[in-house]
Amino acid sequence: MSKIFFPLPANEKLTQSLVNILHSEIGEAEIRHFPDGETYVRVLTDVEGKDVVLVCTLHHPDDKLLPLYFLAKTLRDLKVKSISLVAPYLAYMRQDIQFKPGEGVTSRYFAGLLSGVVDSLITIDPHLHRFHNMEELYTIPATVLHAAPTLATWIKKHVHKPLLIGPDEESLQWVKEVAALADVPFLVLNKTRFGDRNVQVSLPEINAYQSNTPVLVDDIISTARTMIETVQHLKKMIAQAPVCIGVHAVFAEGAFEALVQAGAAQIVTCNTIPHSSNQIQVDSILAEVLK
Ligand code: R5P
Repeated sequence: MSKIFFPLPANEKLTQSLVNILHSEIGEAEIRHFPDGETYVRVLTDVEGKDVVLVCTLHHPDDKLLPLYFLAKTLRDLKVKSISLVAPYLAYMRQDIQFKPGEGVTSRYFAGLLSGVVDSLITIDPHLHRFHNMEELYTIPATVLHAAPTLATWIKKHVHKPLLIGPDEESLQWVKEVAALADVPFLVLNKTRFGDRNVQVSLPEINAYQSNTPVLVDDIISTARTMIETVQHLKKMIAQAPVCIGVHAVFAEGAFEALVQAGAAQIVTCNTIPHSSNQIQVDSILAEVLK
């Protein structure tokens, strides 16, 4: 039986694409705010006994969670068979430990919340660092997909003699895999984060790669401080301006412009979060597991 897809606000484009690929149905729901700011939800499609898929990428998650929760609860009241969530970007994966006494480990709390709302989850390259798999966090089945093959394909097609560079040890898992798939060399830097917007990276040993195009690869670009520091260090050491590739275009306010200003030759991201830098499509990766 084919699934019925419901986009949460701002997820219509990806949802339509998935529905087209899978020849499935798109459900009709009204989700809006009352004048007092509270959320109104109404489902207009007959969903009783059906498997439904909610599509909601989760950057700026605090604003998205309540409409998602209300829609899921409404669908349950309408007796759906199951609810899956497609969240190409999964939030709250970075506060995965208590760094300072008294801090909340929000990765856990967020996972607990989502696990109580939907029956299963599909996401792309969640920031698994101190947690090694989703089962350590989520109590529902969670399918993790990887953008690495599509990044490798893009790099091979668009970059001359690439040298992949990971800005920190956390990026090693992505850089190593993409480099292997693209069959190109890679280096990883050391990074120290002193605050939300204060990051320092060490100088890499790149003398042997002077004729290569540096390609920075990371999972998330948020404040872009990690990429900016790396770009600035590289400028002193290698002639070519780097291509900056991030899976998830989180981009805090002013971050994209600051990265351009810092000297990135090109900034490329996947469409896990809609952004003008999206050049790598993840639609078919998602559709494959939703078949
Ligand atoms: C953390 O280690 C991640 O892999 C990214 O390097 C980090 O999230 C990037 O954040 P920002 O753009 O704020 O430096």
